[in-house]
Amino acid sequence: MNHVLARANVIHTPAPVAAQPITADRYISTDWLAREADRIWPRAWLFAGLERDLAEPGDYRVFNIAYESILITRTEPGELAAFFNVCQHRGARVVVNDHGWVKNFVCPYHGWTYGYDGHLDHVPDPERFTGGIDCEKRSLRPIRVGAVGGLVWICMDEAAPSLTDFLGEAWQAVAAYHLEDMTLYEDQTVELDCNWKAVFDNFGELYHVDHIHPQHELLFDCPTAENHLFDYGHTGVVIDGHTVNTRMPIPEKPNPYLKGQLRMFGGDPDAYDGRVLEIRTDIPRLRREAGPRLGWCYDDMSDLRLSDIEQYNFFPNTMITVQPDDAIVMRTRPHPTDPNKCFWDKLTFRRQPRAEVADRANVAFEPHDPADVADVPRPEHDQFTQDEIIAGNKSMTITIDQDIHLIRDIQAGMRSRGFRDAKLCDDEIRVQHYHDWLNHWMGDRSE
Ligand code: FES
Ligand SMILES: [Fe+2]
Repeated sequence: MNHVLARANVIHTPAPVAAQPITADRYISTDWLAREADRIWPRAWLFAGLERDLAEPGDYRVFNIAYESILITRTEPGELAAFFNVCQHRGARVVVNDHGWVKNFVCPYHGWTYGYDGHLDHVPDPERFTGGIDCEKRSLRPIRVGAVGGLVWICMDEAAPSLTDFLGEAWQAVAAYHLEDMTLYEDQTVELDCNWKAVFDNFGELYHVDHIHPQHELLFDCPTAENHLFDYGHTGVVIDGHTVNTRMPIPEKPNPYLKGQLRMFGGDPDAYDGRVLEIRTDIPRLRREAGPRLGWCYDDMSDLRLSDIEQYNFFPNTMITVQPDDAIVMRTRPHPTDPNKCFWDKLTFRRQPRAEVADRANVAFEPHDPADVADVPRPEHDQFTQDEIIAGNKSMTITIDQDIHLIRDIQAGMRSRGFRDAKLCDDEIRVQHYHDWLNHWMGDRSE
């Protein structure tokens, strides 16, 4: 058996509290929603935007989470900066749209004016403030901000660990794919009738894949996936790719999807008759051989990363799926007042082929799809409802559309008196780990 690419088992970092039943209240009660706004969102590092959208001083983006609004910008020296989007005069939102560029931040209520560094630079009619105004004290209130892989993260808690300590080992795996070099192709948000954690749970297990995503049998071996459990509640899964579901009869010949993947990297599909499981072990070599000609460089990627697919869920609400030439960054956000609703954001990235990779290797540049070489403008944000997906007017990929077809019924079921708690199988260990950590975050961690 040539299983140089064989994977191990569950990599387990225990949660800090004992496993508890996952009951319905956390998905349906307004009390839970309110406590999350106090205990989760202000304490954790949260994925808040893209560095490429904050390229120049004065570029800004607003990130709304629960009842907080965060203003992120770039200062004159070129540093990222983040502030509560709250005017220090009487509390108005300083910025009311979600992105743009400004010369300075002018509050729409009475015109207090702040610099890119949040400093209060101008107050109309200052003589009307008897005793004057301390501009340092009345500057925008800063919060922590950092960027890795081109993703901007914010944290409202001064006592939280550093961004890199928080993201930890799970981020080290994502970092190997260099998201910062990929191109953003799609920026979507769907409004769903379910709790934000129901989406996160959906991406915490592969048990449902055989039932609602039949197309995955032709490309991945989900039942043998390796689960990873990390500190702070992060989890990951690594799935054999360029293969078939080994719980099913192994086909004699490669299916059309595998044939397409082989052809892209210069392999001969007919050579794999009776050897379908060897495609996965051969793909890294084929990729390395064909990569320079196609404009992709795989020099610093391991063989496993060239054959498989990885997904990491970062506590509390960010999910990142990575393959050598594409990535999906997803995030769920709660509805501010209704636990039965949420927003699900999806950013789709691809690595564009580059002629200089072929030049460096001294081979002719022959991208797989010449259209991929064209410049891609930053896509507009597209927001729509789950009904538009169900009607077929919008899509977030066939797999995610299949999830969306089901997810409001799951929420409806959890609201029923007929539901008590979840009974998880071994393959849903990531869901349990996440909720154990969620319980820890929701408790008083100072005890
Ligand atoms: S609340 Fe902003 S200037 Fe008055
Ligand atoms: Fe799914």
